[in-house]
Amino acid sequence: MPKDTLTVTDNRTGKSFEIPIQDGTVRAMDLRQIKTSLDDFGLMTYDPAFTNTASCRSKITFIDGDRGILEYRGYPIEELAEKSTYLETAYLILNGELPDRVHLTEWVHNIKHHTLIHENIKKLIDGFHHDAHPMGMLLSIVGALSTFYPDAKNIFDSKIRREQAFRLIAKVPTIAAFCYRHSVGLPYAYPDNELSYTGNFLNMLFKMTELKYKPHPVLERAFEVLFILHADHEQNCSTNAMRSVGSSHVDPYAAIAAATAALYGPLHGGANEAVLRMLRQVGSKANVPEFIQRVKRGEGRLMGFGHRIYKSYDPRAKIIKQMADKVFEVMGPNPLLEVALELERIALQDEYFVSRKLYPNVDFYSGLIYQSMRLPVDMFPVMFAIPRTCGWIAQWEEMVLDSEQKIARPRQIYQGPPRRRYLPLEERQPD
Ligand code: ACO
Repeated sequence: MPKDTLTVTDNRTGKSFEIPIQDGTVRAMDLRQIKTSLDDFGLMTYDPAFTNTASCRSKITFIDGDRGILEYRGYPIEELAEKSTYLETAYLILNGELPDRVHLTEWVHNIKHHTLIHENIKKLIDGFHHDAHPMGMLLSIVGALSTFYPDAKNIFDSKIRREQAFRLIAKVPTIAAFCYRHSVGLPYAYPDNELSYTGNFLNMLFKMTELKYKPHPVLERAFEVLFILHADHEQNCSTNAMRSVGSSHVDPYAAIAAATAALYGPLHGGANEAVLRMLRQVGSKANVPEFIQRVKRGEGRLMGFGHRIYKSYDPRAKIIKQMADKVFEVMGPNPLLEVALELERIALQDEYFVSRKLYPNVDFYSGLIYQSMRLPVDMFPVMFAIPRTCGWIAQWEEMVLDSEQKIARPRQIYQGPPRRRYLPLEERQPD
């Protein structure tokens, strides 16, 4: 009769241990009983970058990286992108169910009534240099929100947690748009709550002197889709930062500042920016083969390719590629698309990329869409942070309510010098 256990024999002592297997995992703490002597600390796991460690149980997002499947709360991403709005999806991610009409109306009302930011935050934005990276601005300002809403520290009060969710989902687009307007020297465009979430975002970005901004329906829908695709992605680097920092029971603004900082890096949310810079550097279709050779020689990465989890085509990249065509019809063709398509074509048949299962990820085409909407490249990671805010909050709340979670505190293998005598300055020899 097969048992859901793992039998481990410690060849140092000859002793055997039977360890339970649950949900395809063994508990790292069950290894601690494996010791060579009474005063031995016990066996640990070593897993730099958590490549094979589950850090939580989660009901939010499911990914099957080999089959290219992504689901939020059980709903396929393709269906949500086709039929839902971003706010409906955010409700689903936070509450576990799609809203009925009454709940959706209430939810949208609550978000829309938190879109304004305190006037002092405008002064904070004014203090940044005109060429400050908007991601650096965003993470500072989101962190600063903590000082405007000290009640947010009551993280075990469900009403207070919900209030911060409304504030964050509502205010992050306003802050992002204000950062953009600051960088281009335009006056801030205040939220228009008669517009949809994404229509209002377009308004705050692009309103000029007209009395009422009218978002183009194709661009409005493109943002809905892009926001849905970026809403959550289980335990990635920034979500791990959100949970890890949040595990100290800090308020969600401070934790989201940390998550935003993690997203800023070029290996994560900064990749869409890096893709655009790479496409510009390649310049034309003719230069693609030489660029691919350089990547293969290890002289840089093909940005927007590869993923820790997806070992086939990222399902989000497929949807974005289709959306890109619709946006280009409105905004005009993007000459860099030709370079991107050629890079993809060559890479997908090159042994180096095929054998390593490197496919386009979400960032490969999203930057082209943002660029054709006339957004500067350093706004691209900000465009990722806006929709991910709901995923971060949902993951944080799940962590706060999970009785198994404690302050995140990994172990290490110490490899420094053993204890030694402190040398007074006069006894130290020059190098
Ligand atoms: N270009 C060229 N080679 C690559 C790339 C790439 N984009 N990605 C991985 N490889 C190679 C590595 O050099 C390595 O080769 P080796 O086995 O000969 O040493 C192999 O593929 C495995 O790569 P790892 O770095 O071990 O893969 P990991 O899972 O750690 O990294 C990551 C995933 C960070 C996304 C990586 O693929 C990468 O740097 N991609 C480019 C940046 C990017 O697009 N990031 C966005 C990710 S999606 C997101 O965050 C929203």
